[in-house]
Amino acid sequence: MLIRRPAAICPSEITAEAVYMARRRFLRQAGLLGMAGVGFSHSQAEPLTEALTSWDDITHYNNFYEYSSDKHAVATLAQNLAPRPWTISIEGDVAQPRVIDIDQLLRQFPAQQRICRLRCIEGWSMVIPWDGIPLSALLAAAQPTTNARFVKFVSVHDPARFYGQRRSTLAWPYTEGLTLAEAMHPLTLLATGLYGKPLPNQNGAPLRLVVPWKYGFKSIKSIVTIRLQHEQPQTTWPLASADYGFFANVDPRASYGRGSQSRETRIGELHKRPTRPFNGYASEVAHLYPGHDVDAYR
Ligand code: MTE
Repeated sequence: MLIRRPAAICPSEITAEAVYMARRRFLRQAGLLGMAGVGFSHSQAEPLTEALTSWDDITHYNNFYEYSSDKHAVATLAQNLAPRPWTISIEGDVAQPRVIDIDQLLRQFPAQQRICRLRCIEGWSMVIPWDGIPLSALLAAAQPTTNARFVKFVSVHDPARFYGQRRSTLAWPYTEGLTLAEAMHPLTLLATGLYGKPLPNQNGAPLRLVVPWKYGFKSIKSIVTIRLQHEQPQTTWPLASADYGFFANVDPRASYGRGSQSRETRIGELHKRPTRPFNGYASEVAHLYPGHDVDAYR
């Protein structure tokens, strides 16, 4: 995980992927990319030296079942998403519930740039330079009450716009959840952009979750509700199949109906590489799961 303060690179300076990559090469040569953990409270954060996945791959190989299960069709279909105007309701067990407009949110909580891995349970992975707001900042402002133990996230539900929601492939709306400790972890991000540009529709505009140590299905897109609550929320994929669990921490020891999770294909590469526990973020997050057991923590 690599985190830089907004001042390090102003997103508006970045006009193209080529410029971004050139700047990255410069920073690496200057030794600045070794400064992983800048602005980050966990001192063990390791430098992320893996090559970035290209803009084209990140934005044209997508899972967004509200539109289609065809990864290559999503970018075109999602052009009707309409991410403005957009409001997000922060509600439930909080002292300060509010309904906030996305642009107001962006003004109140400045985005940071973070490069992290995304590992899908289908066996592919990417390295993505996100812009986003730490979820902890938003939750701290909402002031969770002592009753709050979980955070539930809900995607937009509008079958008129989402062709996939006219079919019962999944239980709509797409719903996800984290424990409060996971939600408050500094690696947990609400992404608002990538490669220094506004988040494309197909990647979950205007606001999507990024939880880098969990399988990609936890990273819920196009969020409209963030609800703090006492009970563990019922989430979309465990309802659909026993292959999926609530925790869904990346675990190379796991082998579900889909087969082994021990290796992965980085999009853009030919060979497979080993999958790492917690997607390579064990030093930052393993303490959240004492006695981590593959079955107990699915
Ligand atoms: N969020 C919603 N609302 N709908 C979805 O179908 N798919 C999930 C997750 N978030 C999904 C979602 C899955 S399975 C993955 S792997 C990631 O989004 C993919 O994110 P990407 O398309 O930006 O790579």
